Amino acid sequence: MTKQVLILPGDGIGPEITAEAVKVLNALNASDGLDIEMTEDLVGGAAYDAHGLPLSDETMAKAQAADAILLGAVGGYKWESLDISVRPEKGLLRLRSEMKLFANLRPAFLYPQLADASTLKPEVVAGLDILIVRELTGGIYFGQPRGIRVLDNGERQGFNTYVYSESEIRRIAHVAFKAAMKRDKKLTSVDKANVLEVTELWREVVDLVAVEYPEVEVKHMYVDNAAMQLILNPKQFDVMVTGNMFGDILSDEASMLTGSIGMLASASLDENNKGMYEPSHGSAPDIAGKDLANPLATILSAAMMLRYTLGREELAVKIENAVSKVLDQGLRTGDIYSEGMTKVGCREMGDAVVAAL
Ligand code: IPM
Ligand code: MG
Repeated sequence: MTKQVLILPGDGIGPEITAEAVKVLNALNASDGLDIEMTEDLVGGAAYDAHGLPLSDETMAKAQAADAILLGAVGGYKWESLDISVRPEKGLLRLRSEMKLFANLRPAFLYPQLADASTLKPEVVAGLDILIVRELTGGIYFGQPRGIRVLDNGERQGFNTYVYSESEIRRIAHVAFKAAMKRDKKLTSVDKANVLEVTELWREVVDLVAVEYPEVEVKHMYVDNAAMQLILNPKQFDVMVTGNMFGDILSDEASMLTGSIGMLASASLDENNKGMYEPSHGSAPDIAGKDLANPLATILSAAMMLRYTLGREELAVKIENAVSKVLDQGLRTGDIYSEGMTKVGCREMGDAVVAAL
């Protein structure tokens, strides 16, 4: 049966990079019996400009009805001074929250061809293959109460609440342990249990879940140390599991080990592997519309969509091999460029991936 995919290009470089991923998916529709129908809609600043909201109820309903969603990026200078309740990012957060996409998988995989593109020494990053499992619908991003209040002395005070319930920790821990079982069976859970009670509970619950996965070697690490270890010796990590905010920060850091955040794909899954797929990077308004963006993270996110939601592992591998082939050919967008390579724009990179399929 034809599967429905909702494309939400968003803002900044979003439309350019999703267009290249759509090209790749169309090519697979034509030649490999990928049976998907794609429709496009607005999210983020683009939706705000059209409807006064970063995600309309109609778009939300379409997202709920779709089999999978491919999203570009949201946000930009133009919308930064809006009230926080209608900022572009709220559109993305509403999608994650209402669709219950609690499991965010962010693989930081170094293509051997890009070992030189990282700011770290090639021997530190060569062979790097980390999976960050980030809890995506809880923690300080969504905790109540939150806001900015005026104190008795007239001073304003900002506040957010960092909360995790046992069930939220348990379900993300299971996702991480299952992922570890399919990989090198090593799991590092990242917390700040020396200071924050919420992560003391996190640590306890992860240890309880660990009993069900005796083959997986579990380590706990404080987030500050984890940030340091990622730079010092990143290859010690296989799967990392952590809460929403720590995962946001550590996944940006990990992306740089792979040469560029322009290479990092992600999947956000619900209990039934229905998912939204997006590059881990932002909307890069400074280079938007200039054909300079790297579309590979979005194309690799489309591959994850075929793997996790659409059940077409062989086509996911086909896309990943095509990406590897264009890197072999020496094609590089600006963010991963190094001397002796051929610099290409966003469109040319997408075309090259389609040709390599
Ligand atoms: C990400 C982004 C988002 C986040 C923003 C755009 C809300 O940084 O997906 O990592 O903080 O989760
Ligand atoms: Mg982020």
